[in-house]
Formats: sequence, C-alpha cells, structure tokens
Amino acid sequence: MDPKKLKVALTRKLPSPVEARLSDLFDTTLHDSDMPLSPQGLIERVQDVDVLAPTLGDRLDQAFFDAAGPRLKMVANFGAGTDHIDVAAANARGITVTNTPSVLAEDAADMAMTLILAVPRRMVEGVRALESGNFQGWSPTWMLGHRVRGKKLGIIGLGRVGEAIARRAKAFGLSIHYHNRSPINPHIEEELGATYWDSLDQMLARVDIVSINCPHTPATFHLLSRRRLELLQPQAYVVNISRGEIVDEEALASMIEEGRLAGAGLDVYERGAPSEKLLRAPNVVLLPHMASATVESRMEMGERMIINIKMFADGHKPPDRVIL
Ligand code: DGY
Repeated sequence: MDPKKLKVALTRKLPSPVEARLSDLFDTTLHDSDMPLSPQGLIERVQDVDVLAPTLGDRLDQAFFDAAGPRLKMVANFGAGTDHIDVAAANARGITVTNTPSVLAEDAADMAMTLILAVPRRMVEGVRALESGNFQGWSPTWMLGHRVRGKKLGIIGLGRVGEAIARRAKAFGLSIHYHNRSPINPHIEEELGATYWDSLDQMLARVDIVSINCPHTPATFHLLSRRRLELLQPQAYVVNISRGEIVDEEALASMIEEGRLAGAGLDVYERGAPSEKLLRAPNVVLLPHMASATVESRMEMGERMIINIKMFADGHKPPDRVIL
C-alpha cells in the first residue's frame, strides 16, 4: 500500500520530530492537546483510520474495538506496556498490535536503580529536610539510612528491564535473585551471578529489596498481595517501575506505616496516582510515572513505533508485534 495513503491517528501529543516524521510518511492526524481523549473521543478519533497510535492512558477494550469500525488494521502503541489494550479482542478482528519494548529498557533501569539507592539512603527525606530549613549541620547520628552494598535484590520478571537493573545492581555490590516463569539463558545467569527462584514466596522471604519488572496481566494483578508482602522481612524495601496494579498498594502503605516493611520506591500506582495513605507513609519515594521520561527514550519510542507502522504498510510483519 502507498504509505502516504495510510491513515494514522495519534491520541496524545508526541515529541515534535516524531510527529513531523509521521506526517511526512503517512496521512497523519495529530493530537494537539496534551490531555488524553475521553472514551467517546477515542472512538471518534479511530473512525476511518488504518492505524491508531495510542499511549498507556487510552483504554482499548472490547467495546472500543466493537465501535472502531472496519478500517482499523493496526494499533501501534507508543510505549512498552500493553495492559490498556485488549490484544485478544484486537487479534480476533485481525488487528495487529505492536509496542516499543526494547528502546526504553536502559533509561527505565536507571530509574529503578535510582530508587534502589534513594530509598534505603533516605535521599529525598534529606533533600526535604534541607529545603525546609531542618539541616543543623553534620551529625554522627542524623539521617542514617542503610547500606545497599551486600544486600540481596529480588527481581520479579528478569526480562529486558529486569536484566538491565541486574547489571547495574551487580555493579553496586548487590547479589541478584530473580523469579521468572522459567530460568533465563544460563550464560547471562552466570554473568550476573543470578540465583533463580522457581518459588516467588521463597525468594521474597530471603531478599532485602524487591524490584517489580513483570508486565501487568490478569495473572500478575496483586502478585504482591498482602500475604506475599508479609513474607518479606521488616527491613525489606519494594521498588516498582512496572505497573501499580501488581502490588496491593493499600496493604503496602499500611505495612510501611506500621513498620512491618522498611519503605518503597514507586513510579506507578494502582489508580494512576498514589493514594492519600501512600503519600502520608514514611520512607517512600514516589515518582510520577517517569521511568522512561528522557528525551532520548521518547524519541526512540517514536522511531520504533514508526518502524512498526512502516513495515506494516509495506506488507511485512512489524518487529514488535504483541503476541499473546
Ligand atoms: C511504558 O512504556 O509502558 C511505560 O510505562 C511508559 O513509557
């Protein structure tokens, strides 16, 4: 098909060079505002387009695909996570779904590592104390955190991002433990000095810091349930840059408040933004979903999305098809 005739619609404002390239290549409808579309707006936007390029805020469920109209052939997600898309419903209608998984892994891992260091070392608390005039000068006993070197890091989901975190953590002297459905390539496991735990429960009982790096699916909803959080030692920390729904946030906040967990570093939340309880909890560093927020990652996500659309337009299989 002539790519110029391919109708592509965006649902959010993307970096300008990405928008310019999309407009160059395809018949593209841009989205001017930085606010997401309403469900009805989304349905209006998708009418009579070949490719919709959504982001993580857009809920593309069964009802959306029922209303999308017959022209829609591809959903080219700007982002790695696809838990907002009913991929089975799309595939049942012959709609190809792609994402941008590999390009943001290193920047996301940097942010996870930042949280792994910042929470035990009370970095944000220190900044706040200084800014609010509570720094009286160095003291032998003030603002003491905990050493990170020598601690055990338990990674739930050692995929691209998990592996990039493991490499960083190893360099900081943490030992690497991981839980996956199956062990990773033995060469990489050896290189990382990583220990595989078939049982998530057993791993949780032994590690000092848990990093959540699996996707959110029906099977991983509340994977860190209250029961599992209770398996952690009271001096353990939870770090999550994946999706909020994987942790029982209410239980996490209560346990931190009660001193049954040491703290948490979070970039994602069950309801999009942190609950009041979490905002009030001690020893938490809460970020506004910014693990992939670098100019470079967002540009590369755009480039990757364009490659997927271009390959599709040329009649090839796009490289980042989401396979169930
Ligand atoms: C993703 O890509 O799914 C991240 O959560 C945002 O970049």
